[in-house]
Amino acid sequence: MILVTGGAGFIGANFILDWIGTNGEPVVNLDKLTYAGNLGNLASIDGDARHVFVRGDIGDRAQVGALLARHRPRAVLNFAAETHVDRSILGPAAFVETNVVATFALLDTVRGWWAELPASEKAQFRFIHVSTDEVYGSLGTADPAFSETTPYAPNSPYAASKAASDHLVRAYCHTYGLPTLTTNCSNNYGPRQFPEKLVPLMIVNALAGKPLPVYGDGANVRDWLYVGDHCAALRAVLAHGRAGETYNVGGGAEVANIEVVRMVCRMLAEARPGPDYMAQIAFVKDRPGHDRRYAIDAAKIRRELGWSPAESFESGMRRTLQWYLDNPGWLAGVTSGEYKKWISLNYAASAA
Ligand SMILES: NC(=O)c1ccc[n+]([C@@H]2O[C@H](COP(=O)([O-])OP(=O)(O)OC[C@H]3O[C@@H](n4cnc5c(N)ncnc54)[C@H](O)[C@@H]3O)[C@@H](O)[C@H]2O)c1
Repeated sequence: MILVTGGAGFIGANFILDWIGTNGEPVVNLDKLTYAGNLGNLASIDGDARHVFVRGDIGDRAQVGALLARHRPRAVLNFAAETHVDRSILGPAAFVETNVVATFALLDTVRGWWAELPASEKAQFRFIHVSTDEVYGSLGTADPAFSETTPYAPNSPYAASKAASDHLVRAYCHTYGLPTLTTNCSNNYGPRQFPEKLVPLMIVNALAGKPLPVYGDGANVRDWLYVGDHCAALRAVLAHGRAGETYNVGGGAEVANIEVVRMVCRMLAEARPGPDYMAQIAFVKDRPGHDRRYAIDAAKIRRELGWSPAESFESGMRRTLQWYLDNPGWLAGVTSGEYKKWISLNYAASAA
């Protein structure tokens, strides 16, 4: 079996659903259930014996140690993290606590357990650390895309905390021989993403007749990847990736934020005609230190592991929008209470 951390969040939950659907190997899912964790993401495998959910913190050495001893996973996939750049600006401490200190505790606990395994199990074990392209900093318009050898230059507290964890993961392979692999992926979008991130925030606000807040001039470029393609990349890295390596994962779909928002508006106008969604677009004061452009050179994972994205940005966005339209209950569940408080706090801070 495999141990997934953060499997009640956006990418982790999509990964577990894909994994159970395509592979069937049992999964233990350790998640703290922060605001971003939602067991409703896994409702379709409720009661499935192949999914064992455990509420807990990756920083809790006793709990993680007990899970490892009990389940003897052949791999750990670490998705657990604080992930929202805006939150890292307003409250960076939680990012250091989870992404650096707790991730270190996880890594160190896994190393201690792994060191005692029989030689054959030791050699086959994998620790996959799911990271981000934000560790590389910001690109100018004409710069080449980020490759695995691009120097780290994180600009937000979120990116810095993920960079720190990437360095620890690398060091644990180099120093102790723990078979680690790190993936640095571009912006994901798809079903079950918490609506503080761009794509679901725009869908939720557009449907509610609220303003669609776009930072600065909207020209910040991200390399968008459909979450199902990220899950396929992680399966390929687990199956065939070389221990000690890092793999950049990206969709080759560079799109400016404002174009993403316009696409949501155009697609919604077809699916739910009536309102003038474009008229809801509202430019707001830019996020401090907002990186201008990210682009991923995914040549290594394409060449070495034969992975490539199945969805174009257009097809992935259609699937995404349809999922949100088909799942109003999920949306209602995550957009109550705390969520409303956060949105008003963040966008009050960034109101022009
Ligand atoms: N979303 C993206 O576009 C993107 C892109 C590249 C990489 N990543 C990385 O992928 C991973 C998953 O991202 P996501 O978008 O699914 O995040 P998310 O915020 O949706 O989910 C994070 C999950 O981790 C859990 N968690 C947080 N702290 C924990 C702790 N201390 N112990 C156990 N569980 C904890 C939360 O409850 C939540 O379920 C992160 O490591 C992130 O850095 C995300």
